[in-house]
Amino acid sequence: MVIDVSALTPNDPTFAARALTVNAHTLQGSQILGIAAQVRALKAQGLLVCDLTVGDFAPAHFPTPEALRQKVTDALNAGHTNYPPSDGLPELRQAIVRFYEERLGLRFPVEAIYIASGARPPLYATYRCLLEEGDTLVYAVPSWNNDYYVHLNKAREVVLPTRAEDGFMPTLALIAPHIQEARVIHLNSPLNPCGTAISAPVLKEICEAIVAENRRRDTTGERPLFLLYDMVYWPLTFGDVQHVNPISLVPEVAPYTIIVDAISKWCSATGLRVGWGVVPVSLQGAFKNLIGHIGAWAPRAEQVATTWYLGQTELMNTFTVEFKAKIQARLDLIHRRLTEMAAAGLPVRSIEPQGAIYLSGQLSLLGRELPGVGVAKTNEDIRRFLLQSAGVALVPFQAFGLKEDTGWFRFSVGAVGVEELAAAMDRLEAALRAVPT
Ligand SMILES: Cc1ncc(COP(=O)(O)O)c(C=O)c1O
Repeated sequence: MVIDVSALTPNDPTFAARALTVNAHTLQGSQILGIAAQVRALKAQGLLVCDLTVGDFAPAHFPTPEALRQKVTDALNAGHTNYPPSDGLPELRQAIVRFYEERLGLRFPVEAIYIASGARPPLYATYRCLLEEGDTLVYAVPSWNNDYYVHLNKAREVVLPTRAEDGFMPTLALIAPHIQEARVIHLNSPLNPCGTAISAPVLKEICEAIVAENRRRDTTGERPLFLLYDMVYWPLTFGDVQHVNPISLVPEVAPYTIIVDAISKWCSATGLRVGWGVVPVSLQGAFKNLIGHIGAWAPRAEQVATTWYLGQTELMNTFTVEFKAKIQARLDLIHRRLTEMAAAGLPVRSIEPQGAIYLSGQLSLLGRELPGVGVAKTNEDIRRFLLQSAGVALVPFQAFGLKEDTGWFRFSVGAVGVEELAAAMDRLEAALRAVPT
């Protein structure tokens, strides 16, 4: 006999609200993934849509390095199918130490490193391990996902809106008024969603202020102030732009710095789920325990394969050069086309790509009568217009915590081919020209 469980499920609209914790019930789903699902549905209906929404890679355009994939298969076949140690395979932690020493000139103790299933668990763990309920996190917007982690941890947030002129990066002037109340300052560079990178002078000033604030706290016995530095896109910088690391700029900030990194983005390996945190050694045990209790380890076979890959300097270099060139070609194409459109009098502008897989583009259409949508009052109106009239799917900066409607959008290029993108830019231009002046 089969028991039909669906018939037993209470048909009571208040059930979830009564059953779930308030925190879980009020936790929002990712807006970006919501928009991406809408785009998939439109495509399934046969609509021509260029999907510039997802922070991911289409394997057809950006495959994970073949040798790395092969090593995952080999590791599975060799029996690496059981639990890994809860802070990761020692060989992988060692490989990361060597990798950072070679690439960044920073030698971390191996005990500082713990492995997790991508960058998300180390981000979550940082909030969980450092912020008591009501403790203050300072972060800039637009930025990625901080709001959800703040909610989950019942932290207090100080949200700093940034300016396009600063590449949407925070400055010390923005942070300084809040430094005494902060427990964690969260920075991400290269920045999702803007495709910009923090400059060395700006980061140095912020790090020096963090060190000075901790010197003050040492004398009062207050809890320390930490810098959470999310560098998951760090090898992906373009032109003269270089990755800048807080500890290289201000070594004294090391005891207060948490680094989060992963192979997800710079190795085109979002599905492999290998990431890590680098924390002061005395904190590592707490982070390890948290990751262990959630079970957010990176799969063992992927850890074995990543250990091998991080040792293949030439292979990695070749991959990175080609990978970056493909990303940059797409970002440059969008930037060039938007710049040409602006020169032709259309209400658009963009910021020259500096890093990651994103570009910031502004479509100044607020207050304009948009065909099929009406007078645009919000970024969401502009988004719908672009989707319907141009078949171009973008994510507004509102999905990255920005409250103000300013016409800025994220263009993300990991899932598109160059020809498809060029055609989408033609459609975008045609749609903009059809907006009555
Ligand atoms: C800035 C930033 N940090 C972390 C992550 C999460 O990376 P992972 O897929 O390794 O969890 C993302 C994903 O988009 C990101 O953009």
